[in-house]
Amino acid sequence: MILCVCFNSFLRKLNCFELHLSLVCNIMAGSGVIENPKENKTLFIKTYGCQMNVYDSDKMAKLLEPLGFILCNSASNADLIILNTCHIREKATEKVFSELGRLRKLKMEGFKSGRKVLLAVAGCVAQAEGSEIITRAPYVDLVFGPQTYHRLPNMVMEATNSRQESEINGAGIIDTDFPVETKFDHLPTDTKSSTSAFLSIQEGCDKFCSFCVVPYTRGTEASRPVEQILHEGINLIKAGAKELVLLGQNVNAYHGLSKSGKEWSLSRLIRELGEIDGLARIRYTTSHPKDMDHELIKAHAEVPQLMPYLHLPIQTGSDRMLKAMNRKHNVAFYVKIIEKLRAARPDIALSSDFIVGHPGETDNDFADTIRLIMEIGYSQAYSFKYSPRPGTPASNLEQLSDATKSDRLQTLQQLLNEQQFSFNRQCINTSQKVLVERRRDRDGRLTGRTPFMQNISFDGPIRLLGELIDINVEQATEKSLFGRVAIKEQYRGHMIMNKNYSEGRKHA
Ligand code: 5AD
Ligand code: SF4
Repeated sequence: MILCVCFNSFLRKLNCFELHLSLVCNIMAGSGVIENPKENKTLFIKTYGCQMNVYDSDKMAKLLEPLGFILCNSASNADLIILNTCHIREKATEKVFSELGRLRKLKMEGFKSGRKVLLAVAGCVAQAEGSEIITRAPYVDLVFGPQTYHRLPNMVMEATNSRQESEINGAGIIDTDFPVETKFDHLPTDTKSSTSAFLSIQEGCDKFCSFCVVPYTRGTEASRPVEQILHEGINLIKAGAKELVLLGQNVNAYHGLSKSGKEWSLSRLIRELGEIDGLARIRYTTSHPKDMDHELIKAHAEVPQLMPYLHLPIQTGSDRMLKAMNRKHNVAFYVKIIEKLRAARPDIALSSDFIVGHPGETDNDFADTIRLIMEIGYSQAYSFKYSPRPGTPASNLEQLSDATKSDRLQTLQQLLNEQQFSFNRQCINTSQKVLVERRRDRDGRLTGRTPFMQNISFDGPIRLLGELIDINVEQATEKSLFGRVAIKEQYRGHMIMNKNYSEGRKHA
């Protein structure tokens, strides 16, 4: 059986959020100026899941710019609708089919009025379900997986030129290969970037945790070559990025080849990125404890741009469950890594993923998880009820009741929320370096992130967007901070960034 998952961890990882890309882009594609720009067409992408999917959706939009597609923020106005799906937890497939059911109406209305609306399913559900999607929803035009979206312009042209036989017929194009060439060789150059930009450096995973579909779907671990990453990084910075977030399902297993054919580790890559003028911040996600080597821990002490925040999932605080999950380490090993990280960077803020209710988890195992959380003290964390994924080892075992999972999740989340609130409260009356990322539509306030990944909002002039400024923190809630621009910032002209810029070493 073919499975697919959409990324792992991180997940804001996957707090299965849905993200609507709603930027209006320039039709001059990053990959070149269009010779004969077609009449503008509109594109709507709905992105489910992790940052990796957000990265992929952004690239899809850029790939389609030369065909005249500009992004819009509503499916009802779009000529092409892409659902970029996630398969990491249950019900993902059903969610996609019910969304397709709603979108079918738009396609039929378009047909009746002589307008062709194309419907595409991308990402991990597409990879996992393949032709089953067309069988159940014959009005879908395109189904393609995470490794083939560089072929999207051709697929879209083919679908555009195909004859739509009836109001419920789609073009039925399916591409769920794992091609030999990598999509990264075909992606357009970024000409415009957000202040904080994702940069995918690695995909896939060899760890085979009992519960996880990633190794079956995204494939085994593969690292992009160093030069390609540096090139993309430099372009993103030229295009306006001040922060790079290095992405990978198992990012600290990175081992890409350099020009001279040597393997570089993640720490080596981070040090090299730290030499680029204009790059103020570096983050990476998601990491596995087993790949948290000495050099990477040392980089946290020595690379000023590397932010004092680490998402390092442990999933459970029970040795018995770590074994059942095939995590390849025990609790003591994880605690030791945290100690080393804190010795290297005393203010480092920590995050994790937790799963409750994995088959075999007892009350005692769960109590161990609670104990570990109290011992470590997280600045934030993500937690999920175990969800059986077809084809993974744990899905064949006896399952716990949903009531047990819900009870445990509630207890765990209450503790994590208390810890996050307490971490945020400690920032009140401190000054934090904030990278200003956007202006909120709702109230016009500026928002950004502290070095510790906290969201913070404040009033300020638009010229501060993209700047790294001091904010005095005045209030805290469980999820965010509120502050005021420090007086000196109000009189300052433009921020001068340089590669030796160091920040945020002191928390509270
Ligand atoms: N059930 C619940 N949570 C899962 N995750 C991955 N697979 C499952 C599953 N089958 C969680 C893990 C991982 C995060 C990205 O998603 O905590 O770190
Ligand atoms: Fe999935 Fe485990 Fe790999 Fe993370 S380390 S992607 S949880 S198999």
